[in-house]
Amino acid sequence: MSKATHLECSLCQQRFEAGTVQNLCACGGPLLVRYDLDLIRTRWRRRDVANGVSSMWRYAPVLPPADQAIVSLGEGWTPLIRTRRLGARLGAESLWVKDEGLNPTGSFKARGLSCAISMCVELGVRKVAIPSAGNAASALAAYAAAAGIESHIFMPCDVPQANYLECKAYGANVTLVDGLISDCAKIVSSRKDAEGWFDISTLREPYRIEGKKTMGYELAEQFRWELPNAIFYPCGGGVGLIGMWKAFGEMEELGWVSSARPKMISVQAEGCQPVVRAFNQGAERSQFWEGAATVASGLRVPKPLGDFLVLKAVRASGGAAIAIPDSELIDAGIRLAGEEGIFASPEGGACVAAAERLIRDGFLKRDDQIVIYNTGSGLKYLEAYSTRFPRMPAGETDKLGGLITPR
Ligand SMILES: Cc1ncc(COP(=O)(O)O)c(C=O)c1O
Ligand SMILES: [Zn+2]
Repeated sequence: MSKATHLECSLCQQRFEAGTVQNLCACGGPLLVRYDLDLIRTRWRRRDVANGVSSMWRYAPVLPPADQAIVSLGEGWTPLIRTRRLGARLGAESLWVKDEGLNPTGSFKARGLSCAISMCVELGVRKVAIPSAGNAASALAAYAAAAGIESHIFMPCDVPQANYLECKAYGANVTLVDGLISDCAKIVSSRKDAEGWFDISTLREPYRIEGKKTMGYELAEQFRWELPNAIFYPCGGGVGLIGMWKAFGEMEELGWVSSARPKMISVQAEGCQPVVRAFNQGAERSQFWEGAATVASGLRVPKPLGDFLVLKAVRASGGAAIAIPDSELIDAGIRLAGEEGIFASPEGGACVAAAERLIRDGFLKRDDQIVIYNTGSGLKYLEAYSTRFPRMPAGETDKLGGLITPR
């Protein structure tokens, strides 16, 4: 079965050999994996996919590692849930939640890191380092543990407790940094050569995006190969959105989907919205967002490396970029939990709030097929949600009505 043919710079189109350890192109552009899709089309048919494994590796023919290198904890093939009460309240007939909170380590980051760590196994990389907003660190720590690879993690000192504890439990080397993910990235790049670490920062290596693109394949398959009209995606680095866009292009080349594309809606938090600002200014690239602050820790990325790719996809799709204040994204997360039984991450809550806005103001039609990405589980954000639900000791009356315990 054919795998990658080469890597291609997303800025200057220079080609690099597939199956080699690579970071960015010399021009600073992220590298994208390319395949011989003409050949793959003759060997792997759309109808064969249904017989694949129940994980993102059902799309292995368009993923880079060889089968024997794959490190899997069961990532992907997550549920696509049709909302009942949320859609009805908004008058949207076909509103869906793609629930990525069910992945190993509780977020979609598992997809990217399963693929990247598998490539580390294939290429013989023994030590990896990552700057992370939180969930990527948890996923890296888990997959590195599963692969027996040494991991070095740098993340802001105020990441959710769950991220810190998971990384420690998985045996990673964790450094908490008094700063943002951009400060963590500087530490990794200044130390990696001396330490012999492979820098596994998102888009600085070509393979995480390949895992994330499976969200696009999966959505197409779950919608019986007809893409929805709109996708709401919470944009930190924006790599999930770029990956899905890449997947749609590949599937069109494979003859699996038409040229119609969903409107890609890039959702950020008001306290860190570089992509929204660039979109509104008609700019090709974003500017560093000073003083980035939001409880949606995955969205606290002040200058995404792949901003130009996000902006291109959003514009080409006729989509939008919008920002949601923290109080609204938490409220929307709680509404989703109460209406649908899905406890979303604040990033997912931001997409719910954004969908509510764009359906109400008529940007989307009420009979559009609309998908909200919940990229992580609310269980990883107990600090953020506990601000809404302070715990009170039971009063005397409650105790008399229920269980009476000795003092
Ligand atoms: C829960 C969650 N959602 C969304 C994002 C943003 O991801 P991307 O880099 O694909 O924009 C992150 C990144 O940390 C995250 O943890
Ligand atoms: Zn280049």
